[in-house]
Amino acid sequence: MGFPLEPYRAKVVESIPAPSREVREAALRRAGFNVFGLRSDEVVVDLLTDSGTGAMSDRQWSAMMTGDESYAGAHSFDELRTTVEDVFGMPWLLPVHQGRGAENVLGAALVKPGDVVPGNAHFDTTRAHIEHRGATALDCTVDAAKDLEADEPFKGNVDLRRLDAALREHAGHVPYVLLTITCNTAGGQPVSLANARDVREMCDRHGVPLILDAARHAENAFLVKEREKEVAAWSVAAIARAFADLADAVAMSGKKDALTNIGGILAFRERAWYDRCVPYAVLYEGFVTYGGLAGRDLAAMAVGLREALDERYLTHRVHQVRALADRMAGLGLPVMRPAGGHAVYVDANRFLPHLGRAEWPGQALVVELYREGGVRTVEIGGVMAGRDPATGKDRFDGPDLVRFAVPRRAYSNTHLAWVAEIAEAVWARREGVQGLEFELEAPILRHFTSRFRPRAAAPKLRV
Ligand code: F0G
Repeated sequence: MGFPLEPYRAKVVESIPAPSREVREAALRRAGFNVFGLRSDEVVVDLLTDSGTGAMSDRQWSAMMTGDESYAGAHSFDELRTTVEDVFGMPWLLPVHQGRGAENVLGAALVKPGDVVPGNAHFDTTRAHIEHRGATALDCTVDAAKDLEADEPFKGNVDLRRLDAALREHAGHVPYVLLTITCNTAGGQPVSLANARDVREMCDRHGVPLILDAARHAENAFLVKEREKEVAAWSVAAIARAFADLADAVAMSGKKDALTNIGGILAFRERAWYDRCVPYAVLYEGFVTYGGLAGRDLAAMAVGLREALDERYLTHRVHQVRALADRMAGLGLPVMRPAGGHAVYVDANRFLPHLGRAEWPGQALVVELYREGGVRTVEIGGVMAGRDPATGKDRFDGPDLVRFAVPRRAYSNTHLAWVAEIAEAVWARREGVQGLEFELEAPILRHFTSRFRPRAAAPKLRV
């Protein structure tokens, strides 16, 4: 079959809606051709995000029953603290309600106006939190990340020359370097251990700390084991630990590789860092032993952090995503190579070449995938990039991509085969796909709440 056996079976099932074509058309109009406005019962296969959308295991659910809801000193906190120390080697833990909670606390404690935080491409909320503090998030990802077809193994890597130049230019104003594994913004592409070691060495030379955004660190470690010869014989857990051993702190959204529906962590090697962050953690998140979460959420994360490093689970996970990419590529669709750890990205500019960028081809493709078969994906392109605050002009600084993010342990290979069929059906009628225009453009983070309408003019067909 070309993909490994699911290393789990279902004990509880959730039925999937089957909205008719009429329901889907009406839903699109009501939502203003923006899939963030759809209700979940209007969606057949939901690939909007892999964040908080996975299925928890029976062990996680049973750990939740024994979750300790004490305000302070809950044993669920101790369980999580011990796990975090085992997985990351960091003894000082602050739980947070989700990844951006960690970003907010770090920003408050460490980032000053005028600072620069370099790294590989930062995730949107990470960048927004840095900018919110009056600082700059500097993308130093390797150039290969921008070449959608290059079959490079480590497109999430940091360009060391760029990082070195940034550390020289902004000396004294770099509170830390941030390494995001895998690099979501670059398409869920991994960072090699060799690159992480070089980054650490460079940080040492410049006297700057290194923080890991470990949201998808288990997927990163799995891809490193597959692609980096030196560590091919290591366990995924040992590789994950080797990354953490290079860092001073870990910020992590638990909604990805802690296999929970909510939660996050901020972990430190040294007490002094923890002490600096505690006041803000208490202010924004909650007391230091619960961090905006219920005790049962801490318990579920403690189990999920270990389960995410299980190699049978990861083998299936990564191959499932890859099989979807290969299937779509085999049908001739313009798919980003290689597949990311958590998602497949399709190049809407090549899928719909008759549409200009101002006709929002990424958004148009997202709409057609939903219209065709109720598949919900997300635009990562011009709509999401928004406008340059200085010039007010649309910021077309990257391609128009459509992300098919695969929730963990939730969908079978049959569901994903269906998704590929829907994409193929849209591909077959691509020349007739109409562009969109704004009906109502939201002033900030416009992809979430803007409304669109089909462009009045007939689409320009290729000759
Ligand atoms: N860092 C990375 C690399 C992420 O991908 C995300 C979220 C966050 C931080 C923020 O974490 O959502 O728990 O506050 N990514 C989601 C996505 C939303 O769809 O890619 P959060």
